[in-house]
Amino acid sequence: MQGLNLPQHIAIIMDGNGRWAQRRRKPRIFGHQEGAKRVREVVEAAGEIGVKALTLFAFSEENWARPEDEISGLFGLLRHYLETEIENLHKKNVRLKIIGNVARLPESCRKLLIEGIRRTSGNSGLVLNIALSYSGRTEIVDAARQIAKSVQAGDLVPEDIDANLFASFMTTSDLPDPDLLIRTSGEQRISNFLLWQCAYTELYFSDLCWPDFRRSDLMLAIESFSSRHRRFGKIDATAPQISMMTEPC
Ligand code: IPE
Ligand code: IPE
Ligand code: MG
Repeated sequence: MQGLNLPQHIAIIMDGNGRWAQRRRKPRIFGHQEGAKRVREVVEAAGEIGVKALTLFAFSEENWARPEDEISGLFGLLRHYLETEIENLHKKNVRLKIIGNVARLPESCRKLLIEGIRRTSGNSGLVLNIALSYSGRTEIVDAARQIAKSVQAGDLVPEDIDANLFASFMTTSDLPDPDLLIRTSGEQRISNFLLWQCAYTELYFSDLCWPDFRRSDLMLAIESFSSRHRRFGKIDATAPQISMMTEPC
């Protein structure tokens, strides 16, 4: 990893578990089980490399529309992950964080999450941010509602509202915006993930389904990120100046 420009915050849309299983003529839950193993691997790798934050899209608000047995299977896997992994995360100095509508999650998962957050709250290593029952639009709408209430209460005036203030009302206000967003499974869309935060995030799409995404694939994504020129709307003063347009863009 030496010499690479490391993203501080990586976000991952872990997609393709169901198709991975179906291609093997197995039930979709088999893909989710295999996907959970990759979560362990990627969390460990991100911590070791020195990434500051890793946000994993584990369950979207829209995923509630899936069949009941898939949903209960997914939350069974989450329960198992938390029961077996929290101590390990703690030992590795990882701090657990959750975004999304936690109130909608099964009680048993909620309790484990709250306990996991408490247990790891003093850790200073990787922030493992898991998005559960998460919707980017809902997050923006909730922030707007809170800001409106603050204005109504007289704590803010409309002129105070700018992008910085808005960002401070987002559930990721304690994290830098993601530098790199990875999506697996060949789909090239955001699917309502971190809409506010990804304004200038570099996108990386992998054709691998999530259960096939290994540590070495994370490294490839980081290498790709490292070779990119981020301009944030400005002119890149470090890029070589081209005097004549001899090459295509
Ligand atoms: C991602 O895999 C996991 C969740 C959305 C919970 P999918 O379950 O979406 O797998 P595909 O996209 O149907 O293959
Ligand atoms: C996005 O994947 C959500 C997660 C990975 C948790 P989906 O499978 O739900 O997204 P779409 O339906 O393909 O856009
Ligand atoms: Mg999917």
